[in-house]
Amino acid sequence: MLLVKNIGLLQTPVGTHSLCGPEQAKNLKLKDAAVAVKDGKISEIFADGAEPPLSKFDRVIDAEGRLVTPGLVDCHTHMVFGGWRHNEIPLKLKGATYLDILRAGGGILDTVRHTREMSEDELLNRAKGFVCEMLRGGVTTAESKSGYGLDLNDEIKQLRVNKRLCEETPMDIVSTFLGAHAIPPEFKDRADEYIDYLCDTVLPEVKRQNLASFCDVFCEDSVFDVMQSKKMLLCGQKYGLKSKIHADEIEAIGGAVLAGELGAISAEHLIATNELGMDSMARGGVTAALLPATSFYLNKTYAPARAMIDKGIPVAIASDFNPGSCPSLNLQLCINLGYLKYRLLPEEILTAVTLNAACALDRGDAIGSIEVGKNADLVIWDAPNFEMLCYRFGSNQVKTVIKKGEIIQ
Ligand code: NIG
Ligand code: FE
Repeated sequence: MLLVKNIGLLQTPVGTHSLCGPEQAKNLKLKDAAVAVKDGKISEIFADGAEPPLSKFDRVIDAEGRLVTPGLVDCHTHMVFGGWRHNEIPLKLKGATYLDILRAGGGILDTVRHTREMSEDELLNRAKGFVCEMLRGGVTTAESKSGYGLDLNDEIKQLRVNKRLCEETPMDIVSTFLGAHAIPPEFKDRADEYIDYLCDTVLPEVKRQNLASFCDVFCEDSVFDVMQSKKMLLCGQKYGLKSKIHADEIEAIGGAVLAGELGAISAEHLIATNELGMDSMARGGVTAALLPATSFYLNKTYAPARAMIDKGIPVAIASDFNPGSCPSLNLQLCINLGYLKYRLLPEEILTAVTLNAACALDRGDAIGSIEVGKNADLVIWDAPNFEMLCYRFGSNQVKTVIKKGEIIQ
């Protein structure tokens, strides 16, 4: 049995469901606490200086008065890819937009070319490096989307990498099928036919090999329209994949409205969303997965996080790590941006990067909070409180990461 003792402040949201409205700001705060871990799960929590029976534990970690939170959950990443896209930055600085570059055959399609050229093992080794960096930054569960293969073999290759990342690293990886991320060159100007191909040929194989939990689509001007997105997500549902949607990132073409109508588990990005979209999400119980580092990197405005909380939409915050719109996997930076740009409270932000993110991955029963029975995914921070994490930026403030009761670093 493991004991994490001498915790100055244990701060966590509570529950197994996403928290919305005023509930999002409610964190349990225990002083002079300790956490006992048995078989990788939290078995007991002590507070207010209560003395755990030390002789019962074969391993003891002294937090030396520091802050302890649940392991962070990064619920939106595209971490399996070939190449980088640094060559786009001079174009952007000259005024080209994200969609200009994509329409000209660059952007996502450039990454597709590089990803198709790499073998499964090469992609795996590269992504393992990213996973290590995420773990060092306090992330203990991450989503990983496909979407840089865009054909049967290469989408399956990416999804197999997700599976192996989960098996071969300490990180829990939740896999999302995003075949509808862009229209590949083979289907240029034939988006409808590409959606049919994904539904008839790729999805059945994804299901057969059980390689994804969610189906996602990039619903955006010049990419997939609302009807195509709906068809894709309904087809995913037919195969048991819950719906996620890249919605209203650049233009509000109806993605958030669709998310509400379909009861999607999450709508993601939402920089450009509007009242209609938010009302539909609130009605449909959809979690907003917001990606502030992407706003930063695209030089865009920030999603209306406060309005969402006021409307009772649960808000999660994720990195969106990808080689184009956000080549950073630093979720601590997203905490800073959530504070300064979304103007959320520290407690709301902690919920956004733990429990609400876990619920956006359908894992609220097992992770996302420090409670008896949940996985012992914990971070000891080199900070006395969460306000310090919101305030300092650019440094890794992690002291120790514990994953299912094992010390990762
Ligand atoms: O979430 N918006 C679509 N997909 C990614 C970007 C992927 C890329 O540019 O390679 C995103 O930002
Ligand atoms: Fe994305």
